Parts: sequence; C-alpha cells; structure tokens
Amino acid sequence: SREVMDKAMDKALNFLWANAPLNHKLDKKYLSTIEKNKSILGDVIKVAQNRINAVLYGPTGEEITKDLELADKTCLITGANSGIGLEMTRCLSARGCAVLMACRNTYAAGAGARAQSMWENNHRLRLYETNLASLRSVKKCCDQILQAEKKIDIVILNAGVFGLPWTLTVDMLETSFQVNYLSQIYMLKNIEQILAPDARVVFITSESHRSLIPTEDVVSLPESKYTSIKAYNISKLCGILAMRYLSYCWLKTSKSVFCAHPGSFVKTRLCRNWQPYELLYTLMAPFSKNVKQAASTPLYCATSPALAGLSNLYFKECARAEPSELAQDSHLAFRLHDLTEDIIRDRTRILTPEEVKLDERI
Ligand SMILES: NC(=O)c1ccc[n+]([C@@H]2O[C@H](COP(=O)([O-])OP(=O)(O)OC[C@H]3O[C@@H](n4cnc5c(N)ncnc54)[C@H](OP(=O)(O)O)[C@@H]3O)[C@@H](O)[C@H]2O)c1
Repeated sequence: SREVMDKAMDKALNFLWANAPLNHKLDKKYLSTIEKNKSILGDVIKVAQNRINAVLYGPTGEEITKDLELADKTCLITGANSGIGLEMTRCLSARGCAVLMACRNTYAAGAGARAQSMWENNHRLRLYETNLASLRSVKKCCDQILQAEKKIDIVILNAGVFGLPWTLTVDMLETSFQVNYLSQIYMLKNIEQILAPDARVVFITSESHRSLIPTEDVVSLPESKYTSIKAYNISKLCGILAMRYLSYCWLKTSKSVFCAHPGSFVKTRLCRNWQPYELLYTLMAPFSKNVKQAASTPLYCATSPALAGLSNLYFKECARAEPSELAQDSHLAFRLHDLTEDIIRDRTRILTPEEVKLDERI
C-alpha cells in the first residue's frame, strides 16, 4: 500500500543520508536534491499505483461519465451524504446534472458536499430529508419533492444498512428490509408521477444476494431467524426482484430499470455497525475497489447511452452479468410485489381515532 511504500522510501533516504560523505551532509543543495528526488519518486509511485489499481479494479465513476453532458437531467439519489452515494453525486454534479440528495441527515449531506467542493454556487444540488426507517418520513419527503421538482430523469436507490443487530422500525418491520428495500420502493411509488418518459431507475444491490438459500420465504425476519448477513442479502435480492417486476410494468414505456453491484468490500461507512466487519473491510481495502471505482457501475447503468432501449439487467464491473437463479424467478417477483403492496397499505392506512390515541401514547 501507499503507506508501506512511503515508509520504505523514508528508510532508504535515511540510510542514504546517514551514509553520505560529510561534505554532502552540509550541502543544502544535496539535501534539496534528495527531497526533490523523493517527491518525484513519490509521484511516480502514485501514478504506478493508480494504473495498477485501474487495471485490477476498473475505471472510476468520473471516467465513466467524463464525456456526458447532463445539464438537462435531474437525478434523485438516496443515501447521497456518504460513501458511494456522495461520490455519485460528485460525478453527476460535475457533468451539470441537478442532484436531489435524499438523506437522513441533511446537515451531514451539506457538509459532505462542501467537503467535496461541490456546494458553493451550485444551485443544482438540493437536499431532502428522509429517514427510510419510517414510511411517514418517506411520504413527507416525497410530498416535498413533488412540490418543488417538475421532473426526475434518474433515480439511484443507493441507501443501505449492513451489520445491524435485530431491530424493528417504527413501522414494525425489520430495519435492513425496510431501509434497503421497502421504503425505497415506497419512495419510487410516490414520485412515479414526475418520472421523465425515458427515466432510468438503478437499484444498488450486491453480489451477496447469491448466498441465499432458495427456500427462503420470510422477508422481514423475526428475531429467531435473524442474522445481519441474511437480512442484508434478502434486502438485496428483493431489489433485483423489484427490478424484474418494474420492468414488466414499464414494458410498453421508454422507462428502464437496472441493478448494479458496486464492488465487494468497498471501505465506506457501511461496515461501521459491527467492529469485526470494520476490521475485515479495512484488511480487504488494498484488494478492493475504492469509493471512486465503486461509483462506476451504478453510474454506467444510470447514464450510459449504450443502455438506451434496454431494461431489467443486472450489472457488475460495468458489464452485464446474470443474477442468481432465484433473482430471475418472475413468479417470486410478482409475489414479492403483492406482499410489498400489502405491507405498505397496512402500514400507511389512515388510523382510527382509537389507534391515533394509542400511537400518540407509544
Ligand atoms: N461498501 C460495499 O462494499 C458495498 C458492496 C455492495 C453493495 N453496497 C451497497 O452500496 C450502497 C451504498 O453503500 P456505501 O458502501 O456507500 O455505504 P455508506 O457510506 O454507509 O452509505 C449508506 C447510505 O445509506 C444511508 N442510510 C442508512 N440508513 C438510512 C436511513 N434509515 N434513512 C436514510 N438513509 C439511510 C446512510 O445515511 P447515514 O449517513 O445517515 O447513515 C448513507 O448515506 C448500499 O446500498 C450498499 O448496500 C456496498
């Protein structure tokens, strides 16, 4: 890694310095030459590392979008305040795209955008607050979007949680299932009326959807059946099945829907909920895509002109791939849709006065 190389370089230079002839030790010119060589060598190593990294782990999001002109587009990104979401926001903003950052913490989103120098004088970056662990919060956010925005061309459903202990949301659903899948479907449903005729929707999913056992039929896991990996994998499988259902609904339209796997073990805040995951992601970082590279496949799906007229496709490494057999099961996709509708209907129905009282007491 860069750190190891820097340390080795410092050692080598210290050795040279210690063994240099005395008159050279006093020669400031000699010292500045060493420093200059060090910085040149450092730059060469940096370039070489970037090249090796690019060959091994693919292009960056910036490289994927560099030739695009997106000034007439508006993109909604969930979880845009950190990690891959923030990097996608940066790349799209740089191409002139208006980005609606739908985030749990708009202060963090503003700070993230400022840290990436994309906030100042950028009126095309807009913040919307939503907590995906609450359908009420999602609805409120969508109402605000509908009030302020005229059309949305791209939707990137990116927000996600991983490694949580078993918890229920205010809607009494297992948290990973609701945050990673259900609430984002609900959001899409609520903003569908302002989607552009040729809109693209991208679900950020994961290769880990493959490790599910085909008999799995519970989506919002009860505590007795819960492991955080299983819950995460189910939520990602649900995303791919939702793509399948949506592409069927949009068959006679120009709207399209894709799924993108950004890369595995990308070191972001995703692994922050459990220390062993954090350690694993840190150890894997030199052998994985970095955040800039992880943004490439989702951005390819969201913007590439090469995908015009296509839909219902799963991508990794900016190339088409087959999702698991279970993820290609149309019957399951329809069943999941019905279940999703039932859950949303049940959780968002108007409460009776007695239920309101009970709700307020809780
Ligand atoms: N990193 C990887 O190796 C990897 C691999 C495969 C797939 N993915 C997928 O890539 C996507 C982006 O993840 P990342 O790696 O960039 O992780 P990240 O930095 O943790 O980003 C996740 C985003 O989701 C948001 N989020 C979490 N819970 C939320 C809630 N209740 N309401 C609203 N927003 C919420 C987070 O907001 P807060 O900052 O407020 O928590 C954050 O902005 C996820 O869908 C993840 O599953 C990542």
